[in-house]
Amino acid sequence: MRRRRAAVAAGLCAAFLLGSVLSALLAPGAGPPAPPGRRGARGELARQIRARYEEARRYSRAGRGGAWGRPERRRLMDLAPRAPRPRAPRLRAPRAPRPRGPGLGCAALRAASGAQFVGAGYTKAVYRVRLPGGAAVALKAVDVSGHDLGSCVREFGARRGCYRLAAHKLLKEMVLLQRLRHPNVLQLYGYCYQDSEDIPDTLTTITELGAPVEMVQLLQASWEDRFRICLSLGRLLHHLAHSPLGSVTLLDFRPRQFVLVDGELKVTDLDDARVEETPCASSADCTLEFPARNFSLACSAHGRCLGMNEKRNLYNAYRFFFTYLLPHSAPPSLRPLLDAIVNATGELSWGVDETLAQLETVLHLFQSGQYLHNSTAGHRAEYRHLASSNIPQEDYRCWPSHQHGGCVLSVFNLAEAKDICESHTQCRAFVVTNQTTWTGRQLVFFKTGWNHVELDPSKTTYVRASG
Ligand SMILES: Nc1ncnc2c1ncn2[C@@H]1O[C@H](COP(=O)(O)OP(=O)(O)O)[C@@H](O)[C@H]1O
Ligand SMILES: [Mg+2]
Repeated sequence: MRRRRAAVAAGLCAAFLLGSVLSALLAPGAGPPAPPGRRGARGELARQIRARYEEARRYSRAGRGGAWGRPERRRLMDLAPRAPRPRAPRLRAPRAPRPRGPGLGCAALRAASGAQFVGAGYTKAVYRVRLPGGAAVALKAVDVSGHDLGSCVREFGARRGCYRLAAHKLLKEMVLLQRLRHPNVLQLYGYCYQDSEDIPDTLTTITELGAPVEMVQLLQASWEDRFRICLSLGRLLHHLAHSPLGSVTLLDFRPRQFVLVDGELKVTDLDDARVEETPCASSADCTLEFPARNFSLACSAHGRCLGMNEKRNLYNAYRFFFTYLLPHSAPPSLRPLLDAIVNATGELSWGVDETLAQLETVLHLFQSGQYLHNSTAGHRAEYRHLASSNIPQEDYRCWPSHQHGGCVLSVFNLAEAKDICESHTQCRAFVVTNQTTWTGRQLVFFKTGWNHVELDPSKTTYVRASG
């Protein structure tokens, strides 16, 4: 399926500008055949479109700095059109959010090239394209051969209406990306409405490009990189709990709703986000249900389940991310604190604020080298120092290495590099580079020998002389 889409996109992009690619994707016949129209069903469809529209409009206005300004009419949002009774009202569309910076639009889309399929979920398909200046961005559009549109067409038999219903998810997402701006929320660069052959005003959003999250890859990454994902997530959840819109929860929290941008985790799929806390009459209505366990929460005097949005996010962070990524192969002195974070989020005994504070403490201990106390008790071996030199080969593998085929680890200081070398039976030398990781630690290549040493002004070699 994935390969088919990639091939289609690649073939088309060779011949057309991106606008044509999107038109082709939206060509008639791309979805399942529409059953005969059903009046009642179409009224229901119009109602659903309107509800989604109202939700997006609420988010565009709610909270601090919410107004989009003078509303502008968009045909996408104009629900009056062809729907039979009950007649859906004409709606004035909220002004679409104004992205910061250049605010890319249809012109950027027409000038883009090299469309490649990168992923699809239930509703949307995402393509990578290159802009004339060379920058790569992501385009999101309703997946016209996707499950969401397909099941809607089967139910309502109205392709355009179903497109609109799905496009309102994209609209909601666009509003939320803009309103929830944060380093761990995917950046929105702009959007474009354009007519395609059978659907007027198709919506495409233009965003920062990321790499889909692959859990298997994350499990093979260094602890430092895995910790970065968890810290990103802690910062994101803190932001969502205190957002200008209120406490935002992500109803669909699976790893595929996130992408990695330069090693940082960012949420990309916001169409299943919800701001309103669950209404309740009593605490019996406030059960937070997960496959493995349930939590009972209190019902507030205002008839809302207290803290449910925040707690849902936190337990999901625990079950999808923290439990797999935080503790394994962590520096031993950090294990008790990391275990405490995993346990407390798994029990929901801490809120988001406390969880983030503890994650930031871990970062501080790691970055400042305090976690090393007592572990650099003294080295048996002595090392000869060869300035401006490198050992190009003589690699051995270790886990989890920053590079395949070699043993490349980050260290706080020289003492830690010596400790590591002494703990590896193969290690006879190591090369300190001037490359650093996201925490500012230096990358070191560990080696089985020093038979061939070459000049390299950016590196320093240490060879084991004894011990
Ligand atoms: N900015 C992006 N860069 C790269 N891949 C992305 C980006 N946004 C989404 N994706 C990929 O596309 C898939 C579908 O996007 P998503 O917004 O989750 O759509 P849906 O609402 O249909 O689930 C995601 O699972 C992710 O792997
Ligand atoms: Mg998704």
